Parts: sequence; structure tokens; C-alpha cells
Amino acid sequence: MNPRPSLAEQLLTRIRRSRGTAVSYTRLAKQLNCGQTAIETSLAELITWGYKIRRRRHEAVTFVAAPDLLTELEIGHFLKTKQIGRPLHCFRLVKSTNDLAIQLAESGAPEGTTVTAEEQSAGRGRLGRAWHSPANAGIYLSLILRPKIKPAQAPGLSVLTALALAETLERLIPGEVRIKWPNDVLISGRKVAGILTELAADRNRVQHVVVGVGINANHRATDFPDSLRETATSLRRELKRSVSRPELLAEFLGQLEKEYRRFQTNLLKAARKRLRRYSVLLGHTVQLQSGSERIEGLAVDIDADGALVLEVDGARRAIAAGEVTVIK
Ligand code: BTN
Repeated sequence: MNPRPSLAEQLLTRIRRSRGTAVSYTRLAKQLNCGQTAIETSLAELITWGYKIRRRRHEAVTFVAAPDLLTELEIGHFLKTKQIGRPLHCFRLVKSTNDLAIQLAESGAPEGTTVTAEEQSAGRGRLGRAWHSPANAGIYLSLILRPKIKPAQAPGLSVLTALALAETLERLIPGEVRIKWPNDVLISGRKVAGILTELAADRNRVQHVVVGVGINANHRATDFPDSLRETATSLRRELKRSVSRPELLAEFLGQLEKEYRRFQTNLLKAARKRLRRYSVLLGHTVQLQSGSERIEGLAVDIDADGALVLEVDGARRAIAAGEVTVIK
């Protein structure tokens, strides 16, 4: 259960609702059942949290702008989900949100629990790589799922997350978003987001899955190390403006909740068509490194478990995980 919102939070809700028009202190004090000094103190508190508020002669107040911060308050303002993102734990600096989410999952945190951070000092990517996580530019989050599936079906969740992310970004940049199986999201051929899914399972059943997502949101070119500048991009670089990270994050969680509901009844059945449409690999000859095996073939489909289907020497092979390079 959410704790009762503080006076400052209740005040914020009221003035935000009035969208740019001034609200008198008298009215607010009456609505919130407090004195005008408490209103003054709460406004000062909101200002220290980064909210832009115009005060007129200690009489009236106008909401101007919210800070672009991943806080419970800001994300909560936009969040419309029932389960995903609830509860929400927001941090300024962590080593890795995946590590925290794994700890929470192991101690019994409910499905949907989400951890976010403004910065990661040891963000992790797939295949033991690091995930560059500069402060206040990206969106770094990990969420806990407890699907009733077999371990072999778990890769479908990475693919599903990539789809929810692609659909969210598509609204910002129509026609430009692609998925590079299994879980990279690209814009103009460059990586804008990555997904790291970590699984705890016994032989027949998944116990929990931690889905970690890193989105390059407001990075400027200089926020990327030289090694990534050509291969990575950010929403800001593509749109030539910054985006509201809490709003984007809340939209993504909403989209993921929709996709996840369908997944729980039908796995990827409803998602496959859309996955094919976003795929950057289908129709191309690719080389796939899966464990110690290297396979070359024509990428022809994504199956109901989220595996990439390759045509190799006239036969079809479904590969559950791996690193892909497009050859032609
Ligand atoms: C990849 O493309 O290699 C996956 C990158 C996943 C990065 C995210 S950022 C939030 C979460 N915490 C981590 O340490 N990693 C994931």
C-alpha cells in the first residue's frame, strides 16, 4: 500500500492540475485543510525537489514545470499500470539496478516491483559487457516478473520487452525503430536501448525473471565514450530535443504490462506478427554465435518461444539465444 502522500505531494497534485493558471494560497489552504504557512513551507520543499513554481506576493502560485527526474513522484504521476512498476523503488546512484532487483526478488518482492536509477556505477550489459550509465541522461530500470512458464520459454520475455520498448519509441519516432533480435532496439541502425534478462529457475519452472532495460534517452554525443559514438544513439540525438524520462518510462511500463498480460495466456502468439515487422534481421543472411557454436543462415522467422529461425542448408533451425551479425 502507498503511504499517505505528504502535504507537499498533495499540494503538487493540486497546482499541477490547474495547468499554468494561478491558484490562491487561501484556496489551497482550505482544500488541504492547513494554514498558509504550511503552504509556504510545502512550496519551498517542492522547489528544492526541482519543481518550477511561480509565487506571486505570497498570495497565489502557478505550476510551471516538473524536473526531469526518475523519482517515485514523477514516474507515479504518469504511471497507469496495475501491476508493473508497483511498487517502484527509485535511486540516485546504484551499482546496477539488476543486482538490486535480484536481491529484492530473492527476498520475495512481488511481481511488478521495479527499481530505477539516475546513474549506475557498474551497469551490466549482455555477454559480460558493461552498460555505460551516465547520470541524469539515461533510463536505467529493472523489474521483477514471476511468470508461470518453463525455463525454455523465458527468452520470449526479452523479445517481448524489446517489442514493448519499440512500440513505445515508435510513438516518438514513427517508422524508424527496429529490433535486432533478441533484444537490442535500434534507431537509424544505431542502438538506442538494450535489455538484460536474468533468470532464476529450477528444472521445470521459472521462479523469477529480472528484466533490466537501459535506454539512451537524453545523452548528448559527448555522453558516449568514443568506442560507442558511432554505434549508439540516443532519443535526444535523433529528435534534436530532450524527452521527459519519467513520462517515457511510465509509458513503456504501460506497454509492457499490456504485452505481458497477453504473454501470460498465449506466450508470443499475439506478438509474433509485430515482432516480424520490427525485425532488422529477417530476410538477411546472418552469422549467429550461440555458445561455442557459430551458425550461418538466412533469418526467416521468430517462433512462438522468441527463438530466431534460421534456414541453414535447406533446413530450419530455431536458436534461442546468441549474438548476431548481419552478413548480407
Ligand atoms: C545490453 O544491450 O547489453 C543490455 C543492457 C542492459 C542495461 C540495463 S541498465 C538497467 C539494468 N541494470 C544493469 O546493470 N543492466 C540493465
